[in-house]
Amino acid sequence: MPGKDEFVVTPYEVKGRIDYERLREQFGTQLVTHELLAKLHHIAGGELPPALSRGIYYSHRDLPALLDGFAHGTPFFLYSGRGPSGPLHTSHLLQFQLCQWFQQRLGVPMYIQITDDEKFWSSKSGIAREETAHWGLENLIDILALGFDPKRTHTFFDSRSIAALYPLAIRIARKVPYSTVKAVFGFTPSTNIGLVFYTALQTVPAFWPSWSEGRPIPCLIPCGIDQDPHFRISRDMAESLGYPKPALLHSQMVPGLLGESVMSTTGDRSDNALFLNDPPHVVERKVRNAFTGGRATVEEQRRLGATPEVCSVWALWRTQFAESEEKFADVTKGCRSGTLLCGECKSQLLERVGRFYRSHEAAREKVKEWAESTIVTVAPHPL
Ligand code: TRP
Repeated sequence: MPGKDEFVVTPYEVKGRIDYERLREQFGTQLVTHELLAKLHHIAGGELPPALSRGIYYSHRDLPALLDGFAHGTPFFLYSGRGPSGPLHTSHLLQFQLCQWFQQRLGVPMYIQITDDEKFWSSKSGIAREETAHWGLENLIDILALGFDPKRTHTFFDSRSIAALYPLAIRIARKVPYSTVKAVFGFTPSTNIGLVFYTALQTVPAFWPSWSEGRPIPCLIPCGIDQDPHFRISRDMAESLGYPKPALLHSQMVPGLLGESVMSTTGDRSDNALFLNDPPHVVERKVRNAFTGGRATVEEQRRLGATPEVCSVWALWRTQFAESEEKFADVTKGCRSGTLLCGECKSQLLERVGRFYRSHEAAREKVKEWAESTIVTVAPHPL
């Protein structure tokens, strides 16, 4: 285990208390500044989604250049993905809500990668192939139900799309020395060779549209900052293959309900998050038992106020469920000043979560009819 001030962040391991500023410096990425947010606001012409306006997406690579290009008539496409190790929880949706917002605002294509192979290879608990395939489709339906446009949204479902991916993967894999993956991902002699190859597949979608159309098309990848190591590899080789370096927009890891970070790689501890397949009474129980920044007694809380920054319920308001900046400011102020007590705060949040689950369920039913038709199975060229 790392010491008190140490942490490890790779796609396959997140340990310790993360200092996000130090992580950004270690990775060498840029800070999302107010100026950049203003530029986004201007280009997209509308309110920014909470994950952007409230600082969860805090780091990037080359985003200003991509936005300037767009403003001058060079469209880009979006790419993000999911390793289907089980049901999605609400925080997993953040990166896709952000993509959906970009697509709706700017009319750009979206490519989703479902890595049922990666999860089979990386799962420490030994997940079955049937399970990663099953969750792959379920997760895809949840993602599409956020409002993606069926005409502009394409899916690489690794095990089913391999014929479409492989011609490009062949070229990419040749550029990645074993010493790089060993150093970047911390692989050991017992790591299976599936994972050693896998990073090539995660790079493919970043270049695929350029390859398919035969001209350079810029790519923007919203992702958790833990995924950055894969895309450093993509960026390092992009130009040598004749493709633009993908731009990135990185989020912090969202804290879970138990006050620990929720990482898919820690095995989705079931009480730590609100899963999309949790029935209403389970959602209610989880929120009621969630770790808060409240005081030991009501009297103390009224007198001293509570601490939103450490509270997992506040994190839910912040990332997704406060529908406006005013509501978010109200909750934060009420919490800090002691006028809003935890029970009442949780009831208000539960109302919104319940509403979201009901509309999401209805959206899922419609999406089921076309979800599989987004899966790309054919390569655009024989070579
Ligand atoms: N490796 C990611 C995971 O384990 C899945 C993924 C594939 C991804 N392509 C991506 C995530 C692009 C973000 C962006 O969940």
